Amino acid sequence: MTGRIPLLVGGADDVRTQMILVAAHAAEVDVKTEAPKSAAAPELQFSDKKITYTGAILRFFGRFHESSEVYGSSFYESAEVDSWLDWALMELAEPPVRLEQAAQTLEKHLEQRVFLVGQRLTLADIAASLPLQRFQQQGLVQLGRATKRWLGTCLATEAACSVLSSAPPKGKAAAAATAAPSVAPVAAVAGATPMSSTPLLDRYSSCVGGRTEIKRIMLADGDGKSMVGQKVSVCGWVKTAREADKGKIMFVQLNDGSIPLDIQVVIDSGAKGFDSLKGKCSTGASMKCTGEVVASPGGKQAVEILVKDAGSEVVLFGGVDAKEYPLAKKGHSHEYLRSIAHLRPRSNLIGSVARVRAALAQATHEFFRSNNFLYVHTPLITAADCEGAGEMFQVTTMMAEAEKDGKPLPMANGKFDYTKDFFQKPAFLTVSGQLSVENYCCSLSKVYTFGPTFRAENSHTSRHLAEFWMIEPELAFADIVDDMNCAEDYLKYCVRYAMEHNRQDLEFFDDKIEKGLVKRLENLLAEPFARVTYTEAIDILLKESPTAKFQVPVEWGMDLGSEHERHLAEKVFKKPTIVYNYPKDIKAFYMRLNEDNKTVAAMDVLAPAIGEVIGGSQREERLDVLDRRITEMGLEPKDYWWYRDLRRFGSVPHSGFGLGFERLIMLTTGVENIRDVIPYPRYPGHAEF
Ligand code: 4AD
Ligand code: MG
Repeated sequence: MTGRIPLLVGGADDVRTQMILVAAHAAEVDVKTEAPKSAAAPELQFSDKKITYTGAILRFFGRFHESSEVYGSSFYESAEVDSWLDWALMELAEPPVRLEQAAQTLEKHLEQRVFLVGQRLTLADIAASLPLQRFQQQGLVQLGRATKRWLGTCLATEAACSVLSSAPPKGKAAAAATAAPSVAPVAAVAGATPMSSTPLLDRYSSCVGGRTEIKRIMLADGDGKSMVGQKVSVCGWVKTAREADKGKIMFVQLNDGSIPLDIQVVIDSGAKGFDSLKGKCSTGASMKCTGEVVASPGGKQAVEILVKDAGSEVVLFGGVDAKEYPLAKKGHSHEYLRSIAHLRPRSNLIGSVARVRAALAQATHEFFRSNNFLYVHTPLITAADCEGAGEMFQVTTMMAEAEKDGKPLPMANGKFDYTKDFFQKPAFLTVSGQLSVENYCCSLSKVYTFGPTFRAENSHTSRHLAEFWMIEPELAFADIVDDMNCAEDYLKYCVRYAMEHNRQDLEFFDDKIEKGLVKRLENLLAEPFARVTYTEAIDILLKESPTAKFQVPVEWGMDLGSEHERHLAEKVFKKPTIVYNYPKDIKAFYMRLNEDNKTVAAMDVLAPAIGEVIGGSQREERLDVLDRRITEMGLEPKDYWWYRDLRRFGSVPHSGFGLGFERLIMLTTGVENIRDVIPYPRYPGHAEF
């Protein structure tokens, strides 16, 4: 039926027209509207047919796309929708005759429910809520608590918001709407769903009969108290479970990953499904609990769920044999958790890390998008060694093919014959997307790449991985100072974002991982980063050497080691510190040579506890100088022919940097080992999972 657009003739203020429009939106039916010539009832024209009765028009939409489920999600529900629809069109028609009685009927029915029928907004809700709202506004009726909650929920749906006003309801109505279990956003319209109409019922959990994320309950209006009295279903994994009152009650701490907090569920032995939990509901088991949100008598949280009354139930999805479960006990070491990387996301630590990691990725895209940078995808397989450090993983099919055919590796003049290899030349996993993104920068001005990078350095430190993620912005018409400014703004944006979006996670880290973390992050945001030249930094370190007792003695020209970097950031400046203008001999060929001929316009951002988080530079835009540097470094200019072309055709000053994503997560969470901030760490000898 798609493709043909029904024409609705009806007055915009007419409540029946509004009902029809909300239903059309909820049912994902495109309608054209036209003002009526006289004050007649709305009518729908479809092809050469006319439908005049409001109930018939609503049902027409209900059947338009059955997947929309506005007519219920089963035959039985459709019958129920029919019955409520007729009831609403009769009892709530203008002028209302038995309004008080109708309000009582609704209140009784809604006491244990979110919607009139099933788990989502249907035609029944639409037909009842819109006229009822008018009567309430006209002061003709007093609504009960359950009915008010339901009304707020219905009016906060995207379908209703889109018709009744261009914006979702404000103030009390909106609070009620977010607090009340709501529907899945029934109309799949393009663009983001407005937050206040984001449903409490998860859109993609209909298979379990609907569920509400634990976060939406525990953080509703701050502490979840506004949810008290609501009937909800939650699904998740058991953190701990214990029986009390001689097995008549079970206390379960349930977590679904939406926040670090667990919700306490108190299950009464009279609740449906209680017996199925016996012996199976231990740490790690998965279940659904349906019950009422009640104020928590004690404990840390304001609310809990009571599974007791009629309509309450528990469903065990997957039980656990406590003797076998690797995460059954609490307080595992980080090393042990790494050995069960498939289950460790269920630990508090890795759960919080995963949420912060996702938030920081989001912050990255938001920061660059809001500053008009373009996201460019650079290749992972490359022939160029950007850093010139020779720490690349080779990509070849030669070995697999030789093994398969039982033949020796193809050789030519005593060397591997790469012309027989997949790419017909040596190819590697990228160590940096910089060179590729520079090309785009020199056309699109401001770009960034964000992807995995690979380094075959045989380091076993807590700061190095063989596979890590890097964010590399590249800015045209920007020098080293612009670069430093951008790096500082970006890093602060990310930290601020995590503080705003991941408060509970950061409190967890502050409590369990680094005492004073939140204060440290606040300080990081409060002050400008320190900035010193490499030469100044060396002078400072030389002065401090007698007391600091560095393992590697300090001298101008050396590459700063982790001990030196940390000393500067932790002891000297006590905040993130940018060191710039490094000796050219310890830096990559592409960095711009300074006037002194000894240093290059490079900069590193050093953070307390971690050391280098960002490395960047102004790029050498002068072809002759670049060629000299490539040769000096023992590289072949011809291998970089395309990179050189940028300096031949319309060269511009430009700069960029790379931020090690895992090091940013370490900085933001206080987690000390880089292997614990990436889902599946790769380092020498470890490529499991
Ligand atoms: O300093 P690096 O090597 O700089 C580059 O790769 C430049 N091409 C970036 C650019 O200018 N576009 O690496 C950048 C950052 C480091 O500061 C560090 O945070 C991180 O990447 N990093 C690592 N992180 C984890 N494991 C490793 N092995 C890393 N090596 C570098
Ligand atoms: Mg570096």
